[in-house]
Amino acid sequence: MAAGARALAAGRLVGFPTETVYGLGADARDPEAVAAVFRAKGRPRDHPLICHVADAAGAAGVVTELPPAGRALADAFWPGPLTMVLPRGPGVPDAVTGGRDTVAVRVPAHPVALALLREFGGPVAAPSANRFGRPSPTTAQDVRDELGDAVDVVIDGGPCEIGIESTVVDMTTEPPQVLRPGRISAAQLAHVLGAPVDARASGPARAPGMLESHYAPGARVEVVHDTGAAARCAASAAEHGDRVAVMASHEVPGLPPGCIVLGPLGGPDDYAARLYSAFRRADAEGAATIVAVPPPAEGIGVAVRDRLARAAAGR
Ligand code: TXA
Ligand code: MG
Repeated sequence: MAAGARALAAGRLVGFPTETVYGLGADARDPEAVAAVFRAKGRPRDHPLICHVADAAGAAGVVTELPPAGRALADAFWPGPLTMVLPRGPGVPDAVTGGRDTVAVRVPAHPVALALLREFGGPVAAPSANRFGRPSPTTAQDVRDELGDAVDVVIDGGPCEIGIESTVVDMTTEPPQVLRPGRISAAQLAHVLGAPVDARASGPARAPGMLESHYAPGARVEVVHDTGAAARCAASAAEHGDRVAVMASHEVPGLPPGCIVLGPLGGPDDYAARLYSAFRRADAEGAATIVAVPPPAEGIGVAVRDRLARAAAGR
């Protein structure tokens, strides 16, 4: 057995790549191992974790049933960046779900993650491998920087392709409700189901962990709507003596000298893939403020805007 699967079987924590962000995995059937995940992240115990499985048969093992609608979404989007909230099966401990009667499950589309899940042979509970409230890691080095010795093994699968977290959809409500936007849109889900899906992201009561302030770098994040506003905002922060970083899809003309330029980040997909590493670079270079012009609200741009708003609420 390879080191990652062996560590999981021994109740230890494994950082592993997925197509979205890196996860911090533990054996989902082992409450002690799951408790160690919460300690490593500094995450409140009532914020439930996602069970990662190798295929739809693995998902059937953590839920009471995979209803026809869930089966249809699994067929269309797994492996992939879609997490479904479903009725919780008997083998899933309270530690994973924060005592809820539902469980979140997904099949990641990453060869390293799938190999780990197949070799381990059971569900792996894994949040993003960051300290609580911080941006998710998109490289193995980010995981080591975030968690240090708290993680036993980190498997390096290179940078994550998508760069922001999976879409979370609650399949226990009628209509199903998107709790966290991601690469797969509510419209795509509705298209496959042939029925409406509620696109409104919910507040903390429905999805613990979807706190308003989240995904935040150390720097203060300010969201503005065009490059002109970004230049003015950067100039005024610089006048106050703040080190300023700027991120936008396109080049921003008229920036003050000494400004850290985190871009151009390109269209929505490229922007998503580079968002969290841009946050980390701004922190590493000592920025006090990040001025961000969001990408258009098309495709994954909706989810990028959601993360920017939450990061801005973070300080
Ligand atoms: O892309 C991703 O989803 C990454 C990779 C590692 O798979 N994972 C991730 O996990 O982002 P985490 O723990 O950072 O976010 C999981 C989200 C949280 O917002 C949590 O509240 C929600 O899923 N969630 C988990 N179980 C739930 C449940 N039973 N009911 C409602 N929301 C749930
Ligand atoms: Mg997270």
